[in-house]
Amino acid sequence: MLGAGDMTVLKTERLLLRRWRDSDREPFAMLNADPRVMEFMPGPLTREESDALAARIESHFEQYGFGLFAAELLPDHAFVGFMGLSVPTFQAHFTPCVEIGWRIVADHWGQGLATEGGQEIIRYAFEVLELEALVSFTAAVNLRSQRVMEKLGMTHDPAEDFDHPRLPEGHPLRRHVLYRLRRAEWNPARPLASATLGSRRPSRD
Ligand SMILES: CC(C)(COP(=O)(O)OP(=O)(O)OC[C@H]1O[C@@H](n2cnc3c(N)ncnc32)[C@H](O)[C@@H]1OP(=O)(O)O)[C@@H](O)C(=O)NCCC(=O)NCCS
Repeated sequence: MLGAGDMTVLKTERLLLRRWRDSDREPFAMLNADPRVMEFMPGPLTREESDALAARIESHFEQYGFGLFAAELLPDHAFVGFMGLSVPTFQAHFTPCVEIGWRIVADHWGQGLATEGGQEIIRYAFEVLELEALVSFTAAVNLRSQRVMEKLGMTHDPAEDFDHPRLPEGHPLRRHVLYRLRRAEWNPARPLASATLGSRRPSRD
């Protein structure tokens, strides 16, 4: 495990993933205020809530030595969201665990950025952090995020789906799907989505 002060920077063809800066807070607040981005979250965030989330993300890096990276789009270095790893703070049948997650500025959706960043984060999680396994979860209605999980080679067993303990009974987002990827099953050379395309492709809305 890396030390708490670790300043890892990950780079892909189009993305730079790094620790957070104060200057990220304004574009992060705009991202979190966008109803398109927050459609499958309980709701858009105020500036205060967004800043508090950024502070929690930085504290997570201090506590665990890894976290949700701020993502810059190259070559301009514009802030485009976050991607990375986090340890869920609620209890469920699959916790404790490390989750891979993402949130991207809507104008940049559909360009493969979450998948590109996700691949590099998985490599980092397994090869550098030497984690045994990752999970990812999202509201059952969030097919876009599930598509990213599938493209990354994660697998879904409906028997593991769960009701999110932080959402009240009857809430439309309460039902969540769980995806997993174990290091032993991970194939870094696997072409994107080759194992899953066509097998459970969600329909477009
Ligand atoms: C989920 C999210 C990170 C995806 O980012 P992205 O960079 O657009 O993802 P990618 O381009 O790598 O892949 C998106 C895939 O979803 C597919 N997709 C888009 N809309 C879809 C829909 N309504 N249903 C099913 N698939 C859909 C795209 O076609 C693409 O798959 P393809 O490459 O096979 O065509 C982005 O939409 C986002 O930030 N959403 C809001 C935050 C969020 O939901 N985060 C996850 C919460 S746990």
